[in-house]
Amino acid sequence: MTTERPFPLGARGNILWMNQDIFSAVDAFIGETIVAEDEGLRGAVEAAEEAGLPAIQVSPPQGKLLQLLVRLAGAKRILEFGTLGGYSAILMARALPDAGRLVTLEAKPEYAEVARRSIERAGVGERVEVRVGPALEELAVLEQEGVDPFDLVFIDADKVNTPNYFRWALDHTRPGGLIVADNVVRDGTLAEAHNPDDAVKAQRALHEMLRGEPRVSATTIQTVGVKGYDGLLIALVEDA
Ligand code: SAH
Ligand code: DHB
Ligand code: MG
Repeated sequence: MTTERPFPLGARGNILWMNQDIFSAVDAFIGETIVAEDEGLRGAVEAAEEAGLPAIQVSPPQGKLLQLLVRLAGAKRILEFGTLGGYSAILMARALPDAGRLVTLEAKPEYAEVARRSIERAGVGERVEVRVGPALEELAVLEQEGVDPFDLVFIDADKVNTPNYFRWALDHTRPGGLIVADNVVRDGTLAEAHNPDDAVKAQRALHEMLRGEPRVSATTIQTVGVKGYDGLLIALVEDA
């Protein structure tokens, strides 16, 4: 691992020297110090790995940010798009009060099964409901059921649909609530106006959609870490 600094702090060229080893080493240090994983979370990672799920869950520092946002928003009802093995669902459910509820949507039944077991083992089974099916279809079902507004929505499923999920979230999140979208920066391709990739186009469309949108106040924060270079959009829902 190349962690010896060839330039003094702040010197030109520092950015070029930065690399994935350093991003990962810093995440590891943060993990050892202020955001240690507990048994339940480690169990969820192991179960996901054993079942062959891709290791694309939020990193521990990102997960801790989600927990802080849940608490800062005073969230009691959370909606998540993209369950995978339940890692972020467990994290957010842990930050909820006892009577809090989290609904998480997952397209793949086999992922949802792995997640349900890990969520149960982590002790938050009563707070979390995993719903299986393409999220847009599940949203229609929630709508039919007359779902109450959410306090926080975390969008982390198929990236082409992030603007669609965001649009739905805008109509179903209470004022003062938060809408968070993962993976919007995508190695910096967010800045590429002519990038042909549909996932990139979708993140640009999301940002264009929020240009002058009075119902939210939003920002996008670029991130580096074990998951490379990406970023998340955080939007506060304004009073109507
Ligand atoms: N939030 C998780 C990671 C989610 S990865 C965590 O941090 O722990 C993205 C997930 O979205 C995958 O499990 C994938 O199967 C799911 N997904 C993809 N397309 C979807 C769709 N149309 N509806 C619901 N889930 C979908
Ligand atoms: C992928 C999905 C994610 O939510 C993520 O954070 C990283 C990668 C993916 O589908 O590859
Ligand atoms: Mg993600």
